[in-house]
Amino acid sequence: MPVFITLEGTEGVGKSTALTYIQGYLAQHQVPFVTTREPGGTPLAEKIRTLLLTKDAEPMSSTAELLLMFAARAQHLAQVIQPALASGQWVLCDRFTDATYAYQGGGRGLRQADIGLLETLVQGELRPTLTLWLDAPVELGLSRAAARQQLDRFEQEKAVFFDKVRAVYQQRAEAEPKRYRRIDASLSIEEVQDQIHAVLARFLSVRTL
Ligand code: TMP
Repeated sequence: MPVFITLEGTEGVGKSTALTYIQGYLAQHQVPFVTTREPGGTPLAEKIRTLLLTKDAEPMSSTAELLLMFAARAQHLAQVIQPALASGQWVLCDRFTDATYAYQGGGRGLRQADIGLLETLVQGELRPTLTLWLDAPVELGLSRAAARQQLDRFEQEKAVFFDKVRAVYQQRAEAEPKRYRRIDASLSIEEVQDQIHAVLARFLSVRTL
């Protein structure tokens, strides 16, 4: 059974470090997998990513933002995710549609039902098998993210935006406990990795490759 793992969280929760750790874990266990990200993952989807992350003089409407996210996702699914899953590889994706519910739904205040319609249009039945949600207090993540050189269009949002984003992740994790695993990302790197290790070890133990 193909496995689709996604990694989620607000800014500065240590997603990149976690991603590298998961890659190492899967490789060590001889799991065939591809790593990718959203928005992005194909040349066209990466161009859309640039549009989404670059702050411009013209403000982007929230609906335009939502549709660009799903345009990038449609391309990414067609070019990368679906072919990989069809060939039996696991897919490890840095963010997916949970981020749309959290950022465009929670942060921007767009209707969850509208996101659901686009989700069905673009993905059909496809949903992640396992979602690792790196969770830390917003202020902690923002102070880590602020240490970066240049903030993108989302990173420039205020804490109140990310509180709403985090609240939607929380709701979704509660609504889908089988798929979601909350990782306490406020702890040290070692402790975060221990939690991820435990989730993956358990996940792999009930799966045959
Ligand atoms: P990244 O910094 O984790 O690569 O993600 C880029 C930004 O895009 C991040 O701030 C979250 C945002 N995003 C959304 O708003 N909606 C989405 O559906 C996705 C995939 C990302």
